[in-house]
Amino acid sequence: EETGKSGYDHYMLKEIHEQPRSLRQCLSERVDELAGTVDIDDLADLNPRGVQFVACGTSYHAALYGAELFQQAGIPAQAFLASEYASSPPPIGDALVIGVTQSGETADTLSALREADRRGARTLGVTNVVGSTVARECDHVFYIRAGPEIGVAATKTFASQLAALNLLALGMAGGDDTRELIGALRDLPGQVQEVLDESGARAVAETYLESDAYFFIGRGLNFPVALEGALKMKEITYKHAEGFAAGELKHGPLALVTDQTPVFAVVTGDGEQARKTIGNVKEVEARDAPVIAVTDGQSDVERYADHVLRVPETHPRTAAVLANVQLQLVSYHTAAELGRSIDKPRNLAKSVTVE
Ligand code: AGP
Repeated sequence: EETGKSGYDHYMLKEIHEQPRSLRQCLSERVDELAGTVDIDDLADLNPRGVQFVACGTSYHAALYGAELFQQAGIPAQAFLASEYASSPPPIGDALVIGVTQSGETADTLSALREADRRGARTLGVTNVVGSTVARECDHVFYIRAGPEIGVAATKTFASQLAALNLLALGMAGGDDTRELIGALRDLPGQVQEVLDESGARAVAETYLESDAYFFIGRGLNFPVALEGALKMKEITYKHAEGFAAGELKHGPLALVTDQTPVFAVVTGDGEQARKTIGNVKEVEARDAPVIAVTDGQSDVERYADHVLRVPETHPRTAAVLANVQLQLVSYHTAAELGRSIDKPRNLAKSVTVE
């Protein structure tokens, strides 16, 4: 078992550090850098006019991100929790139903895909496990090629899901800045390595070890990152953590914010979304909450933050992947300091095969 961890204390930390390599694997076969194109020829006929994603847990967060990518490309898309979709499916029309699942064995996701199939929908599985049930049952499959993930908490597979969804959205829907995005994807593994090498996440984790609750906020593509940051924190530290769309704070959750609740604000870029999220950061700062900005330094969010976790500047889509690495490390170090069972958290299984 120790050899399997390659010298790391936990599989989770090993897998966090494997992200540069797993991302390269995900991208290598599908991206032609010279031509500036993405090769998804095997899925070219799908040509979807609408997309419905179904997924659970971390994969659902990837699905939310994926839906936003398709929306940005002008294709109506929605992400559904698979457990809800299976029992009350929305009208499907001629939408392509995409199941996102690391294991390819999650019962809720399988049920949702089977329900979609019963209703005549075309289905596509985005999975890590070759020959898994989802891979076998869906009409089409797209492998994220992250390599085996042992830790119950999904880490490298989430990063590869985001990369894979970028490839799918580019291949199926194109976009104005295809070349720029392909360049950003090419640079992503190296930038993840930079974050791993220089992250200040451990010091942040130690500073807030005694906190009973942690909040995570983000907008747009950084909203799923906030949700994922909170889920990771819950799973492996057993602490209360919630992710919010930054704009929702003032509609209720702000009542929970005190000087005892660290707020992780994911703010990348310097556009409208960053500006509005900084407005939300000011709201929590005014309640004396410690603010940890996860940022590429393009906006002035650092002025309102107690700590800064920097990520390199990149495309807004790839920025989400980088920000997530910082949050993975904060949760990991918090759990490690608390002596938690990081690779096998209580009550959880790697693959949930019951509904
Ligand atoms: C992630 O850290 C969790 N262990 C869990 O939420 C997981 O993502 C979920 O059960 C879905 O699994 P899947 O990707 O294998 O379908």
